[in-house]
Amino acid sequence: MSENKSSTDEHGWTPIKDGALDVAAIRADFPLLNTPFHGKQMVYLDSAVSGQVPQPVIDRMDHYQRFEHTNVHRGVSTLSQEATDRFEEAREKVRGFLNAASSKEIIWTRGTTEAINLVAQSWGRANVQAGDEILLSAMEHHANIVPWQMLAQERGAKICVIPMNDAGELILDDLDTLITPRTKIIGLIHVSNVLGTINPVKEIIAKAHAKGVPVLVDGAQSVPHMTVDVQDLDADFFVFSGHKLSGPTGIGVLYGKKALLEKMPPWHGGGSMILSVSWEKTTYIGLPGKFEAGTPAITQAIGLGAAIDYLQGIGVDNIAAYEHELLNYATEQLSKIEGLRIIGNARKKASVVSFVLDGIHPHDVGSILDHDGVVVRAGHHCAQPVMKRMGVPATTRASFAYYNTREDVDALVGGILKVKGIFG
Ligand code: ALA
Repeated sequence: MSENKSSTDEHGWTPIKDGALDVAAIRADFPLLNTPFHGKQMVYLDSAVSGQVPQPVIDRMDHYQRFEHTNVHRGVSTLSQEATDRFEEAREKVRGFLNAASSKEIIWTRGTTEAINLVAQSWGRANVQAGDEILLSAMEHHANIVPWQMLAQERGAKICVIPMNDAGELILDDLDTLITPRTKIIGLIHVSNVLGTINPVKEIIAKAHAKGVPVLVDGAQSVPHMTVDVQDLDADFFVFSGHKLSGPTGIGVLYGKKALLEKMPPWHGGGSMILSVSWEKTTYIGLPGKFEAGTPAITQAIGLGAAIDYLQGIGVDNIAAYEHELLNYATEQLSKIEGLRIIGNARKKASVVSFVLDGIHPHDVGSILDHDGVVVRAGHHCAQPVMKRMGVPATTRASFAYYNTREDVDALVGGILKVKGIFG
């Protein structure tokens, strides 16, 4: 788990030496990875769907529920004040994790999807009019398509798309013409959940800002795998989910620049977000509470804070470098299998390898692997436009985390050879 800085490789990653991550010790922290599955050792290669949760995170939430819990931001009781302190400490951990300028810029949501809906409904309704354009990339997850389509339908606005090539890289040559005087916002996935592509978000944001257009970055698949600095990216909005980050479900984050969030109207109304309520008029509190109506997911927020502590204890750069080597190994091994085609061959990728096997449906591949103890995802991965662009109905997807090993990759390869044997 030690820091191991050296020169970067051709993809800009810092290589790590074998053993820099003590993966055996890390794996011991994950109860589910050490539980027999179909009578076998579980090989969990589905961290893009949801990350596994380590014992220290489970313990932190358990301790909070048992000994510290009551509602937050309410009442004068010591218990409530201390619960509020724990809850706000978690927000501060997220701020540090993203290097946001202020914890007022960190809004708790249920996840990535809710965070994007918040921006589309609050910022979008205030800023998008008939004839305006919303520019999205060709590799967006449904979470960064549907909320914008709903807004566009309501407002008479148009969805425009940044295309991608066969390797799964965005084609940015015409970006300057794609960003028109009618473009109101750009929605951009940081790392594709299907293709693994790492998009050059910083460059795209710089070009968008040169034309006065804000950018929302969907970081659901980037924050578990690389250090993210929202100030360095200059992202206007950045969203992610706790459960992809070895934290619990039901919690996520909207980061927004203070100047933008301050101008946005509240989205949900209710308790906790008000300054005063009368039958005539309601006034609202400032950030971040303005966007946090009702009782929040307190245990989950504290759990997400613990997950951030856990990842930072290992070192996010160490995780990135380790996973990069694992992805290279997986790509090499899978490429040797006859009839297997990797979908997504971008030069810069993180932690995901999607593939199809000649003549065998991905659901069959996924089911047979499952019986072998190998957990992968098969389907359209909530990204039907990506499937259409790549000319496949579905893929099988293996996705890696810092608790995976080369042996996991070998088990995947063995399972695929077995599938091929069955359909032979
Ligand atoms: N977005 C999640 C995935 O890619 C659900 O599997």
